Amino acid sequence: MQEFYPLTVTGIDHDTRDAVVVSLAPAKGDCETFRFRPGQYLTFRRDFDGEELRRSYSICATPEEGLRVGIKKVDGGAFSSFAKHELKVGDTLDALPPQGRFHAPEEAGEKHYLGFAAGSGITPVLSIAKSILQGSRQARFTLVYGNRQLSSVMFKSELGDLKDRYLDRLNVVHVFSGEAQEIELFSGRIDAEKCHALFGPWVSPKAEMAFICGPEAMMKDVAGALEEAGMPKEKIKFELFGAAQPGRAKMREAAQAARDSGDMVRATVILDGVSRSFTMPRSGQSVLDAAREHDIDAPFSCKAGVCSTCIGRVKSGEVEMMQNYALEDNEVADGLVLTCQCLPLSDEIVIEYEGH
Ligand code: FES
Repeated sequence: MQEFYPLTVTGIDHDTRDAVVVSLAPAKGDCETFRFRPGQYLTFRRDFDGEELRRSYSICATPEEGLRVGIKKVDGGAFSSFAKHELKVGDTLDALPPQGRFHAPEEAGEKHYLGFAAGSGITPVLSIAKSILQGSRQARFTLVYGNRQLSSVMFKSELGDLKDRYLDRLNVVHVFSGEAQEIELFSGRIDAEKCHALFGPWVSPKAEMAFICGPEAMMKDVAGALEEAGMPKEKIKFELFGAAQPGRAKMREAAQAARDSGDMVRATVILDGVSRSFTMPRSGQSVLDAAREHDIDAPFSCKAGVCSTCIGRVKSGEVEMMQNYALEDNEVADGLVLTCQCLPLSDEIVIEYEGH
């Protein structure tokens, strides 16, 4: 079972018109549980109109600085609006321990690292960059950061301070899509063309590792450009923001159609060593949703194939994933799946939750 812990809000900084940076403190006995690696995120839970919402936000600090998350308000986003407008110092938020596999290396060494971020995607990249620069006096970091305009740049003053502190080791390249720049190269979006134009004069793609965080199209473009420039795939780490969840209404329709026509499969889910079986529609419903519908407390967070909270292993049968932004190819080959994205292909499937 996923255990949530209370975190006390100890500070709120309205970073931009839309974004807020929230400092948090675990209870004394939970400090160890909330140790994190730079780049990881926290998942919060809160009831809105009787419905439990879970939302994940990346930590923007280093472990030495403490727990701090960056939250950017999205249109119609219940949790982000609440955080921006209602959350106060002294309030308590329920959170899962830090998670995520997008994080800084243990030892930065004398290497050069790259970061590409768009909008609030800066949050984990900032945490990673700070920890790399702090961790090794010889490490260098180049950050390419895309925003609509200067006023929407999150952590503007912190980035300025970091530039002053790491004069020779931190290079920040701002790219604005909604504001003309003196140098044309710094106008527009971070896409494949922009990357190729930046590589060489401004950004050396010959780096130890690259960390990318932003929307799907940007992430794919940057990863593709880096690979073309010779960076091995396994050195390119990404964290996707704003991944689309497959159309809920369409999914529900497909599930109902499968139920109506009796097109069901038998699923067995093993969680904490306990095995439970049920039938579920062959299409339109993920294994995770089916398990939760049957009162199995299967872990989840994003439900978009991004966070990897819902990882399971296929013990028998066949499934397909609708989207996967979290597992490496070798992990998929090894039988790991994101259960929030899994649809059954065979008449019977057995899936065991990993690490639970
Ligand atoms: Fe996030 Fe499945 S719940 S990947």
